[in-house]
Amino acid sequence: MSALLRIGVFDSGFGGLTVLRALLPQMPAAEFLYVGDTARLPYGSKSQATIARYAVESAQFLVAQGAAYLVIACNTASALALDAIRDAVTVPVLGVIETGAASAAAISKSRDVLVLATDATVQSHAYAQACAAHGLRALEKSCPLLVPLIEEGWTEHPITDEVLRIYLEEAMQTARERGSTPDTVLLGCTHYPLLRPLLERALPPSMQILDSAETTAACVRHDLEARNLLPPESLSSLHAARGEDETPSPASRCRFFATDSIDKFQRLGSRFLGHSMQAVELMDLGG
Ligand code: DGL
Repeated sequence: MSALLRIGVFDSGFGGLTVLRALLPQMPAAEFLYVGDTARLPYGSKSQATIARYAVESAQFLVAQGAAYLVIACNTASALALDAIRDAVTVPVLGVIETGAASAAAISKSRDVLVLATDATVQSHAYAQACAAHGLRALEKSCPLLVPLIEEGWTEHPITDEVLRIYLEEAMQTARERGSTPDTVLLGCTHYPLLRPLLERALPPSMQILDSAETTAACVRHDLEARNLLPPESLSSLHAARGEDETPSPASRCRFFATDSIDKFQRLGSRFLGHSMQAVELMDLGG
């Protein structure tokens, strides 16, 4: 990889590849390093101290590999470890909670938002706080069974459909009790964009689904622009910098690191990324 802008993307596992997938076309002349801490996934059921320790180790690894900007694609790490990561590295760090809340604020008319997330994210109330700062009321719903079902590849399975419908019904029951009328569902977990078809079928058409992957990619671009860090758009400048004749494929601009099975990362990861993956490198961050 040559060094134009190198962006590090971190997630507890494969889910952050949905964010990388959205970032690639937004920044055609940037290179990406992706860490999936698959050995220690899920983060969503762990304590704040553990999540912060794990996330800081991955962030430091990415910076040591040359990342000049970090995207914390993991909602759980963004909710519970963003300050710890920012204290531990010297490069700019963007999390997904604020970007999600800002995007919800831009589209919600009722000002009530339903946030679906892991248990740790919900317990942190990071989304509720970020939404409140934008004048939104957030109803946070923890959906602990969804990540394992998605990891299993059951994104269209009737059981996943049933589990999702139960969570949504519970959330809407709470909304009725609180007199809340959410018109926007914020997907506050890296994995949930893969359930979009099920969500669209389960939700009334009046409810909008906000995919944090898309909104994060747009925010990264704006933030890089504001910091004057955005590389030239033209792919020819990237080719010239690399001395290449051919247009590089999106995947050739990425290096992937996983802390557990390479095979599984390639198999599951390609579903999140949307195309097959180049070589994945095994890394050891300890226990
Ligand atoms: N990446 C996590 C998130 O976005 C979901 C998977 C996990 O629990 O580690 O919250």
